[in-house]
Amino acid sequence: MLTILDLSAYLGLGAIGAITLNMLLGMLMAFRYSPYRSWPHHRFNYFRIHNWTGYLALSVSILHPLVLLFNKDPRFRILDLLYPVHSPAQPLYNSIGAIALYLLAFVVVTSYLRIRLGRHLWKSFHFSIYFAAAALFWHSLFTDPGLKNAPVAWFDGGKLFVASCLLLITAISLWRLRHARKNAIHARPIIQQPAASD
Ligand code: HEM
Repeated sequence: MLTILDLSAYLGLGAIGAITLNMLLGMLMAFRYSPYRSWPHHRFNYFRIHNWTGYLALSVSILHPLVLLFNKDPRFRILDLLYPVHSPAQPLYNSIGAIALYLLAFVVVTSYLRIRLGRHLWKSFHFSIYFAAAALFWHSLFTDPGLKNAPVAWFDGGKLFVASCLLLITAISLWRLRHARKNAIHARPIIQQPAASD
């Protein structure tokens, strides 16, 4: 039978899936990837999918701790979810999850206000998604879904899924960083050296 903890874990895993898709599409936009010029040679508005996966990730991430309120043992109070420092099980990992959730909410809300904030401010806020992702993956990899403080079961299906998402995002982020560095080198003004006869 599906328990409350199972349901919460599935919601957490769903949120990780949505965040992974969202970040991959975001990085493709940063590369100015054109699905028309490149694969699959079709016009489609992946900016919209990027937005919607962001909203989806935030909604599912809110539901994931919320259903814990219905768990019998241990009992979580609303305060244990909003400020999990004294929560009944794994307070450290839960607090890291809460930090991740607040950062994610910040990124989604500031994106909604993007036009009003202006491109420069919005973009500097948007980079917080990398801090959110670090906290998200830390929380997801190290919590015990059974809440028994058991050592991490690395070959459990859930953990393997989270680890593959992390690997994919890390690989594409490094590629993105290299791309940004290359662009910065090409954009740097060339300073003319004075000729020896000057
Ligand atoms: C207030 C914020 C949060 C709290 C209090 C919290 C709490 C918990 C708890 C108690 C567990 C272990 C029990 C279970 O599996 O449900 C857990 C696991 C997990 N959480 Fe969270 N969480 C929070 C935020 C998040 C966020 C924002 C994400 C992802 C976007 C996330 C993803 C996961 C994942 C993937 C697992 C592991 C599931 C597994 O190993 O099968 N959590 N969380």
